[in-house]
Amino acid sequence: MGLGLLLLPAVLALLCGREAECTAGFIKSPLSEVGLTGEAVELHCEAIGRPIPEIQWWFEADYSNNESFSQLWDGAREERVQINATYVFHATSSLYLTSLIPEDSGTYECRASNDPDRNHLTKIPRIKWIRSQANVMVIDHPDIMTNAVYMTENTMILTCNLSANSFVSGHRWLKGGKVLKEDKDTSNIMTYNVSGLPEEGSGQYICEFLTTPNVSKVVNVSVSPQVHHYKATEHGNEGDTGVLTCKSSSFPPVTDWSWYIVSPNGVEAIGNGSSDRYVIKSSGNQTVLRIHNLDIENDQHDYTCNGTNELGAKGDVVHLHVRSRLAALWPFLGIVGEVVVLVTIIFIYEKRRKPDEVCEDEDSATGALKSNSGANHDTLRQRNSN
Ligand SMILES: *[C@@H]1O[C@H](CO)[C@@H](O)[C@H](O)[C@H]1NC(C)=O
Ligand SMILES: *[C@@H]1O[C@H](CO)[C@@H](O)[C@H](O)[C@H]1NC(C)=O
Ligand SMILES: *[C@@H]1O[C@H](CO)[C@@H](O)[C@H](O)[C@H]1NC(C)=O
Ligand SMILES: *[C@@H]1O[C@H](CO)[C@@H](O)[C@H](O)[C@H]1NC(C)=O
Ligand SMILES: *[C@@H]1O[C@H](CO)[C@@H](O)[C@H](O)[C@H]1NC(C)=O
Ligand SMILES: *[C@@H]1O[C@H](CO)[C@@H](O)[C@H](O)[C@H]1NC(C)=O
Ligand SMILES: *[C@@H]1O[C@H](CO)[C@@H](O)[C@H](O)[C@H]1NC(C)=O
Ligand SMILES: *[C@@H]1O[C@H](CO)[C@@H](O)[C@H](O)[C@H]1NC(C)=O
Ligand SMILES: *[C@@H]1O[C@H](CO)[C@@H](O)[C@H](O)[C@H]1NC(C)=O
Repeated sequence: MGLGLLLLPAVLALLCGREAECTAGFIKSPLSEVGLTGEAVELHCEAIGRPIPEIQWWFEADYSNNESFSQLWDGAREERVQINATYVFHATSSLYLTSLIPEDSGTYECRASNDPDRNHLTKIPRIKWIRSQANVMVIDHPDIMTNAVYMTENTMILTCNLSANSFVSGHRWLKGGKVLKEDKDTSNIMTYNVSGLPEEGSGQYICEFLTTPNVSKVVNVSVSPQVHHYKATEHGNEGDTGVLTCKSSSFPPVTDWSWYIVSPNGVEAIGNGSSDRYVIKSSGNQTVLRIHNLDIENDQHDYTCNGTNELGAKGDVVHLHVRSRLAALWPFLGIVGEVVVLVTIIFIYEKRRKPDEVCEDEDSATGALKSNSGANHDTLRQRNSN
């Protein structure tokens, strides 16, 4: 069966040789789907033939009092119907039904034909349209009741309770696209222990019941902003730009960031653009304060960043250290100084050494002679005394 399905396209491709004409045939038929109100389903159909087959979609509502199919087109039902098709030898067509409503329930028919007279109004085509049907059933999204309870300051238990008594074949907990926990339990209640609050633990969790179709709900674990400086002390050179950064990775994102200068004169808010020396760039999880043309006298202070969301506000302090232009040069000047001193010492040493060397040599030579002669005298003296 599986092999047959695999071989079908190959066989059809063989029958529809390069030049030969051949009647359109299905390679893939649409599969029946159960959709949830508000969500989407996709039906897919593929046909092969020569000349190129055309694929159409037709619909008959479950709740219609007359039995007749009507054709669907891209953009039908106030743009809730989308059709994506490729019009080639191996023709494909996908029907997307979005923002489902109960009236979308019914029979969907994929029709394919490559008869040149297929759309002729009076001529009866030699070969009729081939048809393949699938059912779409739209059901109400079952209620999922959620609950989030703090156990300790750092832990929380999330609970999801599925109201419908549909058959559950398992559960999945997700966060940020990653599966946190998965089981094959059939209970209509699922729980998850959150740890690492208030920082990493915060976020949007999704509880998913594996049913037909899968149903899920988002559980928000919200905390006040957890604001941290990027560096406790930032350094900048006089005249350059100082860059101070604060971050908050907690959920929900920070909606308002503000910066304050903490100087002996008091605390002063920095308005964006209050002076063109200050530029603040903020996003939901980060704020950057840039101070242009740094000045030792006026800018060497503590700065407070403050992040606010609907649950509260929190700040942190960054100290800005401004170095004088000269200070930046000190290490360089030091090295230059050292080199100058060394060169001078070597130069003086060499200058003094040249004439001395000659004298020393003469001295040592004469000294040796002298001592030799002295020694001779001594031995002579010793001999004499002997
Ligand atoms: C059949 O019902 C549909 C709506 O369900 C309507 O648009 C169409 O006109 C009806 N056709 C006939 C022949 O009654
Ligand atoms: C239909 O196809 C176009 C182009 O290939 C693509 O951009 C679009 O996302 C498709 N629509 C859907 C619903 O996948
Ligand atoms: C789950 O919800 C049902 C009603 O939908 C209720 O009877 C039941 O007590 C709830 N279970 C828990 C653990 O909250
Ligand atoms: C979750 O926390 C509850 C209460 O603290 C505890 O009874 C349960 O064993 C924990 N579950 C897991 C998987 O750690
Ligand atoms: C439900 O989710 C599971 C796990 O991702 C997936 O294997 C399965 O195909 C989904 N079922 C439906 C009907 O979407
Ligand atoms: C969860 O958070 C998102 C993003 O902040 C928000 O749009 C949504 O309404 C929240 N949901 C609930 C149930 O509070
Ligand atoms: C901050 O948010 C942006 C997009 O909103 C994201 O790309 C970036 O990874 C986030 N950074 C952190 C530290 O969470
Ligand atoms: C501050 O002003 C700059 C330039 O005018 C702008 O790009 C930036 O988005 C502003 N930041 C805030 C937090 O308003
Ligand atoms: C942060 O700003 C909020 C609102 O402007 C204020 O209530 C709070 O005291 C500030 N916190 C700090 C640490 O500056």
